[in-house]
Amino acid sequence: MKILVIGGGGREHALCQAIAASPLCDDLHIAPGNPGMVSLGTCHKIDAEDTLGLFDLACSLAADLVIIGPEAPLVDGLADRLEAANIPAFGPSAAAAQLEGSKDFARQICARVNVPQPHFKSFTNAEDALSHADKLNGYCVIKADGLAAGKGVVVSDDMSQAGPAIIQMLGGQFGQASASILIEERITGPELSAFAFVDGANTIWLASAQDHKRAFDDDKGPNTGGMGAISPSPLLTEDLRKQIMDEVINPVAQEMADAGTPYRGILYAGLMMTQDGPKVIEFNCRFGDPEAEVILPRMKSDLVTLICDLRKGILSRAEMSEDIGVTVIMATKGYPGAYEKGSLISGLEEAGAPDDTMIFHAGTSLNSVGDLQASGGRVLAVTALASTQKQARDKAYDAISKISWDEGFYRTDIAKETS
Ligand code: AMP
Ligand code: GLY
Repeated sequence: MKILVIGGGGREHALCQAIAASPLCDDLHIAPGNPGMVSLGTCHKIDAEDTLGLFDLACSLAADLVIIGPEAPLVDGLADRLEAANIPAFGPSAAAAQLEGSKDFARQICARVNVPQPHFKSFTNAEDALSHADKLNGYCVIKADGLAAGKGVVVSDDMSQAGPAIIQMLGGQFGQASASILIEERITGPELSAFAFVDGANTIWLASAQDHKRAFDDDKGPNTGGMGAISPSPLLTEDLRKQIMDEVINPVAQEMADAGTPYRGILYAGLMMTQDGPKVIEFNCRFGDPEAEVILPRMKSDLVTLICDLRKGILSRAEMSEDIGVTVIMATKGYPGAYEKGSLISGLEEAGAPDDTMIFHAGTSLNSVGDLQASGGRVLAVTALASTQKQARDKAYDAISKISWDEGFYRTDIAKETS
């Protein structure tokens, strides 16, 4: 098969590694890709947000399958366009991707089928929003309704934080994406990322992971796209897995189908384990990043077969390694705020040499003389697998110690056992 993967981050590098290893894939193309992926397939310089350019590329390649990594092209309808042109796409339609593209849409779907979630209210008017936040003493979570590149959530302690967040968002901070905002009850508990394959009302569990969202050790600092992950989540039990399917994934899939917007693809539920059980924080219409970098290396089943089967309506449970996976993100100093691009990175070959150790590129590029440089916030995802959490963690940090990069930083407590 000729397969086109859309995206250029660590998640897509991990996807491409799994796809290139499939006996079904004999020609892999990637748009835009990154230097880590050039040995796996042909990279095409088309931005992952350029829906029309990507559609033209898929047509000109006559791709047999297009696997869409990031949310933006999904929400923008790339899967619909491809399917209408008879090019098989993996990823939900724009209507179904609203589960991620509109936080209000996702909350309404959950509310209709009693999926456990925090209380929420939507606002387009700053005065009303401020008065609601005031009633909560500012202890709440403020969210832009639409996609805001992971920056549209403010977890607020009091009105000194809530007030400016509300005024900025409704004042156009994220353009149309924050023309409407949600104010949510602030809930507490450890988080778990749950992944399932969904085809209409049919669902099957895929895997779990635990992300580490804050920039610095001990969950300090600002929220990021994710600074590291462990899979499976240390919190997952068989009972919890069943509960997540029964109380979250299945009712949402059924409701999406009943509403005439059937979901097809990977459904990612971000959950918080509260004292009252798991509650939905958010849905994503794609693999997580960095969760993909820790889940896919554990997958023993052939990803392309699973995807092709799902398109035929056959959902098979992926066989996963018993090994624990740990991924540590190396980011450019300053991330998730402003950061410099162009700092040099070396030592990746030695770092990635041991068995079951992988370095996925996220924000890298080559400079004019062909040296590897940082060109994004999250730059590398260093993954290791081992039979225990401690071994996997030690292996990942050992690999990091071999990487030379002056402008990089990482958390030192990913997958650290607390007891
Ligand atoms: P999101 O972009 O929706 O994943 O939100 C980013 C982070 O904000 C989540 O991973 C949580 O840590 C936190 N968060 C989101 N919603 C809530 C909520 N209702 N209560 C407490 N924390 C939340
Ligand atoms: N790891 C969080 C996300 O992919 O949205």
